[in-house]
Amino acid sequence: MLDAINHIRDEINAFEVSTSEQLEKFRLIFLSKKGKISSLFEAFKSVSSENKKEIGRHLNSLKIEAIDKYESLKMNLSLISGPFSSDDLTKPSFPFSSGTRHPVSIIRREINDIFSRIGFTVSEGPEIEDDWHVFTGLNFPFNHPARDMQDTFFISLNPDVLLRTHTSSVQVRVMEKQKPPIRNIFPGRVFRNEAISARAHCIFHQVEGLYVDHNVSFADLKQTLLFFAKEMFGESTQIRLRPSFFPFTEPSAELDVSCSICKGKGCNVCKYTGFLEILGCGMVDPNVLDASGIDSNEYTGFAFGMGIERIAMLKYQVNDLRLYFENDIRFLHQFTNS
Ligand code: PHE
Repeated sequence: MLDAINHIRDEINAFEVSTSEQLEKFRLIFLSKKGKISSLFEAFKSVSSENKKEIGRHLNSLKIEAIDKYESLKMNLSLISGPFSSDDLTKPSFPFSSGTRHPVSIIRREINDIFSRIGFTVSEGPEIEDDWHVFTGLNFPFNHPARDMQDTFFISLNPDVLLRTHTSSVQVRVMEKQKPPIRNIFPGRVFRNEAISARAHCIFHQVEGLYVDHNVSFADLKQTLLFFAKEMFGESTQIRLRPSFFPFTEPSAELDVSCSICKGKGCNVCKYTGFLEILGCGMVDPNVLDASGIDSNEYTGFAFGMGIERIAMLKYQVNDLRLYFENDIRFLHQFTNS
């Protein structure tokens, strides 16, 4: 009996269908009342009782496999012939499954949402830029390594056209146009000439923040970032500011948040330090304010910038950057959000 089951299974697996007549033939041969599976169930009645359990199991799974195959053949046929090929307009339409938002979009929207709650508005700037907005206006010395071709994609040198390497370029554009108070965030794509690996990519996304007004202080920056960290990673999140350097901020810092995976106790994600670096920040350098036409004697400001993929990696524990760019549907379907 087991041999007969296996034999029919092989026949089912080998059966191919390209017309609805052949599909009907499949149904008649295997699934109809007089079909092969029914006759096996008939023969099953005379199987000895000690073998019934084992053979019954095989027989049932054969039946399920045959039904699955029939359904999928039917589905494939309807895909080939299309939902509108039928003359019967009352038939249900083809079911389209709805997509999911990309994890980078989910995190970008969450960041925008958190900052909008404390009065920041979203604006954007161009991805194709010039030297002034990406470097010179941001106080980068003429020989700064970030201007090197190794880091920056230059499209043309004269006139200078390049792909922005950070969203800080939008700071300059906004300060040139707008009078303080300025309280904006700038999400967008940035480009760096990096070899693609799990940890680096030539395209990624950043969100920049800028606040310029009378009497803006480092304490305001710290409080804003603490609010952000708690909203993003949970109420118990702690922050740590480490001194750092950026040409366009003085003083500059890097922000670490307590590791949300081990709650600061130390694990391999935070490399047993209990903290994870998430962004760069600082007080806008007076040279940058003056270069964009804002009087640095009257106004002060803070700025910060973070990588969206970096936040997504920490939130979702997906440690290979390349996955965010491959648009593999199996990856994207794991992220659902309203
Ligand atoms: N532009 C910096 C970077 O790309 C981040 C940054 C933004 C730092 C604003 C300080 C202030 O790394």
